[in-house]
Amino acid sequence: MKVEMKNIRKSFGSNDVLKGVTMSIQGGDICALLGENGAGKSTLMNILGGVHQMDAGSIVIDDKEVHFDTPAQSQEAGIAFIHQELNLINDLPIYENMFLGRELKTKSGSLDLKEMYKQTEEMFAKMDVDLDPGKMVRDLDASYKQIVEICRAMMTNASIIIMDEPTTSLTDSEIERVFAMMEAMKEHDVGIIFISHKLNEVMQICDKYLVLRDGNLVAEGYVADVTTKELASFMVGYDVRTESLRREKTVGAEVLRVTGLTHEHAFRDVNVSVRAGEILGITGLLGDGRSELFQAIFGAEKFTSGQIHLNGKEVRIKSTYQAIKEGIAYLPRNRKENAIIKDMNIMENASIATWPMFSKRGIINSKKHRETFEEQRAALRLKMGELTDSITSLSGGNQQKVVLAKWLAANPKLLILDNPTQGVDVGAKEDIYDIILKLAEEDIAVVVLSSEAQEIIRICDRALVMFHGVIQGEVAGDLMNEHTIMNLATGGVLA
Ligand SMILES: Nc1ncnc2c1ncn2[C@@H]1O[C@H](COP(=O)(O)OP(=O)(O)OP(=O)(O)O)[C@@H](O)[C@H]1O
Ligand SMILES: [Mg+2]
Repeated sequence: MKVEMKNIRKSFGSNDVLKGVTMSIQGGDICALLGENGAGKSTLMNILGGVHQMDAGSIVIDDKEVHFDTPAQSQEAGIAFIHQELNLINDLPIYENMFLGRELKTKSGSLDLKEMYKQTEEMFAKMDVDLDPGKMVRDLDASYKQIVEICRAMMTNASIIIMDEPTTSLTDSEIERVFAMMEAMKEHDVGIIFISHKLNEVMQICDKYLVLRDGNLVAEGYVADVTTKELASFMVGYDVRTESLRREKTVGAEVLRVTGLTHEHAFRDVNVSVRAGEILGITGLLGDGRSELFQAIFGAEKFTSGQIHLNGKEVRIKSTYQAIKEGIAYLPRNRKENAIIKDMNIMENASIATWPMFSKRGIINSKKHRETFEEQRAALRLKMGELTDSITSLSGGNQQKVVLAKWLAANPKLLILDNPTQGVDVGAKEDIYDIILKLAEEDIAVVVLSSEAQEIIRICDRALVMFHGVIQGEVAGDLMNEHTIMNLATGGVLA
């Protein structure tokens, strides 16, 4: 199947998002759709998926013009859309989720659970997925949810599958699992449009690329002919820097000291110290325990033994409320699941969790809250309309900026950022790095949890590398390079 989108135009109010974009995709191709946050990637795909209506232009499938007024019509034509925000129901088993909206019925009109189970089992066998169709979706980790979505798309006999940032919240090995699925779909002659901000992934899995900027298609071609650096510069329109931003700086007093911290299974005997004005990186691979460790420090996870000192004083943090009151802020790793509430507007989303920092005896100082949020919003160059607009009117990367701005506005002493640049484009990444460096200048102790070695190297003063719940080694200076970090992260030791 061949799909062509010709001269597509789309505006939201006065915002001209797409100014005449032409692109095509064929069965068996894996094509990357690239562009900065807000470039219009999701919008273009929402048009192909029948979610939004274009203002002008045409969609042609196998040389015949088509019109999609609804998502159902697009699906009917063989296009499946796996959205940026997952669309599974946690309280239903996998096989029922596979048939959401197109449930199979028995002759008597009741749900044909047996047949749905059977077809799900067959699809898993075809795609080589080792998963029990009867499992509840809530018990699946993020990658398996993604895989269920992919299989669901395959079940509709789709010829073209749109994947909008499918790997943003996945770990490296989970990503490999999704990539294996994509290869399997390619074998079945399915065409895939892959949206991602992770250019190394694009290099690994995609055949072709398309780049959107300022509402136009500015570059396209074969991935084999370009470097990640070139792709990044197509996206932002100028050369992107990659050197370390670390600066020589004397750090202040110790803000956080953790000694012998041990968890039932996630981490053991961890010692960490962070000083004011320091940026400490924590990195490692899947199952290294870094998120659980800092969730424990933030009062969101229990630990079995060990001590936490804040500003030289031992504290027993029993809840996140207490942690926030103590001046700790924690940006969680998975925005979609943990940080954004879709039914709330931007300002409401910007207030979740941090309000204790703006309240005195339970009364919230909303004016001060709004002012500090506005400052951060400007600094982060957040693209948005009104504070009362729905959070879902923002592009994915700008949603991430809202969550970040919210924690920055809380003016913490210790700022823990878990995966801070998930889903943000290369240009916005630079904005976020600048902010992190500025915060350190202002004597905040910053901890950055990231699996991207490049990110750690760019902004951190030093980094701890974790392996199966223990700190395998510390790197700083010349030792802070991808090779040494990877060696430690896979259980090696420092020479
Ligand atoms: N439903 C909507 N109502 C109003 N504006 C919208 C709506 N959907 C998108 N926009 C605006 O259109 C522009 C493009 O958004 P889009 O979601 O397509 O970006 P994107 O390229 O997918 O970005 P990201 O990488 O951050 O996901 C943004 O300025 C966004 O605010
Ligand atoms: Mg998007």
